[in-house]
Amino acid sequence: MPSPIDDSLAARISPDCPQDTRDVLHHAWAHDLSGLKKLLVDRSKASAQDPKTGETPLHAAIRACGPAEKPDKNAAAAGEAEEGKEEEEDEGEDGCVEEAREVVQALFFSGAIWNDVDANNETPGCVAYRLGRKTLYNMCVDAGVRAEILFALMDGYEELSSGEDEEEEEEEEEEEKKEEDQVMKDDKQPAEEEKEQKEKEETNAETAKDPEPSAFVPPDVDEKQVTSKEYLESDLTYDANKLLDADLNGVMMSWETDIMRRSVAALLPDGPPGKRVLNVGFGMGIIDGMFAALKPSRHHIIEAHPDVLAHIASPGSAFGAAWEDSAPEKGEYRVCKGRWQDVVPLLAEQGYLYDAIYFDTFGEDYSQLRTFIMEWVPALLDQGGRFSFFNGLGADRRVCYDVYTRVVEMHCADAGLDVEWEESDVDMAELDKDGQGEWEGVRRRYWTLDKYRLPICTFMG
Ligand SMILES: C[S@@+](CC[C@H](N)C(=O)[O-])C[C@H]1O[C@@H](n2cnc3c(N)ncnc32)[C@H](O)[C@@H]1O
Repeated sequence: MPSPIDDSLAARISPDCPQDTRDVLHHAWAHDLSGLKKLLVDRSKASAQDPKTGETPLHAAIRACGPAEKPDKNAAAAGEAEEGKEEEEDEGEDGCVEEAREVVQALFFSGAIWNDVDANNETPGCVAYRLGRKTLYNMCVDAGVRAEILFALMDGYEELSSGEDEEEEEEEEEEEKKEEDQVMKDDKQPAEEEKEQKEKEETNAETAKDPEPSAFVPPDVDEKQVTSKEYLESDLTYDANKLLDADLNGVMMSWETDIMRRSVAALLPDGPPGKRVLNVGFGMGIIDGMFAALKPSRHHIIEAHPDVLAHIASPGSAFGAAWEDSAPEKGEYRVCKGRWQDVVPLLAEQGYLYDAIYFDTFGEDYSQLRTFIMEWVPALLDQGGRFSFFNGLGADRRVCYDVYTRVVEMHCADAGLDVEWEESDVDMAELDKDGQGEWEGVRRRYWTLDKYRLPICTFMG
């Protein structure tokens, strides 16, 4: 059992904390707005971190509220609750939150980073959620949405890794840049890159990173970020329950079968035969098996990884040459080999349309899903058709999951798509411990939530 978190001031502001950081943390903790604002003239202070505990002013302002009181149902039933206070009581909020709200707002205006993690691996939003402080939690989600939308606008998407991998990412970026300079692989012009970098630096302070690097080392700092290129070049291993990459990352796992089943039911309600289906990402073929059972008139699968393609072509596979030959018309059952980024434009060019499109790849960041939604779903989905994707975005952290839900909804709206979310329980009995149960032999637990939010996207109007 992990030891309970000590939320006391003494535990959070360490003796080693430098005086200027200590000052800002104390003012935030005390919800002393006017005192804090004077310090925030130096905008870097909004994201100062205690070098030992990782406490930021946002953590401090939220944590100082303590846990929300549970609404007293008996008192409410006895009619003791005053009229108009119902909402407040439902949230279990009190006057402290109003003060904290103003402080949190001032911090965000001054450039506080919404997803910095502390030494307990909690973002300010995680603290708010744990303490039951809904209003403050929602402010963190709003700030996350604003930051991500801005990054998307600049085409400079930053994955919601809660700051854990930044150091490593920076090193990798430097390495990559050196390599790129050497082999001139990148077709982007240096001037363009410089401009992008400058735009990034000038953007809204909320998205800007702390100019004073903190000595605080977040947990899981050596966690490796998977890139698409590395993934597609790595060796994969299949067993009965999972598909792993060379670093033992779970590419696909059989516990997701229920999610796949729900996705098929949402995409093709009542499962009529004769529908036209496109699936991006074969993995273990779980969802393709379910689509195939519905006897579609068209079933196209896009897959890029050579090991997955070899698995598909191996004897005993349900999606080999015999399956392709069994199509109602030639070419209608097909495994399209290659990255969807290369294959999809060809399908669109040939005028293919689909009633159901599912997207579930691996090793790609949100910007790729966004591109698929905004550029290709409108081209490939027939009127009245449905699109869905595996919604694992930010699923290792509740606040990130909530941010992505809103961000993806906005991008879908830009593409002319409505999103309906169907929420279902995830049985966490075998999923709630790192390295145990379903995660045995898997490097990282990529799912931590007890609810899955299944997106069902349809054209507006
Ligand atoms: C999570 S698995 C899909 C699981 C699948 N939904 C199932 O039910 O088994 C992701 C798959 O996407 C493939 N993939 C990753 N990047 C891709 C890309 N750019 N284009 C096409 N396929 C890709 C991976 O090789 C992998 O087979």
